[in-house]
Amino acid sequence: MTRSILILNGPNLNLLGTRQPEVYGPTTLADIEALCQAKAAALGIHVDFRQSNHEGVLVDTLHDARGKFSGIILNAGAYTHTSVALMDAISSIMVPVVELHLSNIHAREEFRKKSYIAPVAVGQICGFGAAGYPLAIEAIMAYIGEG
Ligand code: DQA
Repeated sequence: MTRSILILNGPNLNLLGTRQPEVYGPTTLADIEALCQAKAAALGIHVDFRQSNHEGVLVDTLHDARGKFSGIILNAGAYTHTSVALMDAISSIMVPVVELHLSNIHAREEFRKKSYIAPVAVGQICGFGAAGYPLAIEAIMAYIGEG
């Protein structure tokens, strides 16, 4: 469990590759999972990579992470900017979360500057596209002292 990380992706991220490539790049979610699995293999850790379009499923997945994962990387997509439920779930589970976004949410529309995840996350990585995922793996491993 100490070397198991959950990477959880929220709504519309299943469409990466065809979804607004000028914003999110040409990389598919399957490509990103492959990047993460390669990084995990290099570090000798286990990564569980998931995606859901449903807020309640994301909440359930965060709850289920207790006792199974030592850290979580969360790209909550648009729920970042709306979801008190995800914020409360993170506050309730005692598993450290790194907030991740492909795009720089601070350089886009005003509503994307507000994150309900940021106050309960250990830190935030945004703006590095798909490369942010392996960076986030390094960040969470450093945070939990396994880096
Ligand atoms: C995103 C940024 C969010 O504002 C947006 O709603 C997404 C993707 C990102 O990875 O850049 O769905 O989380």
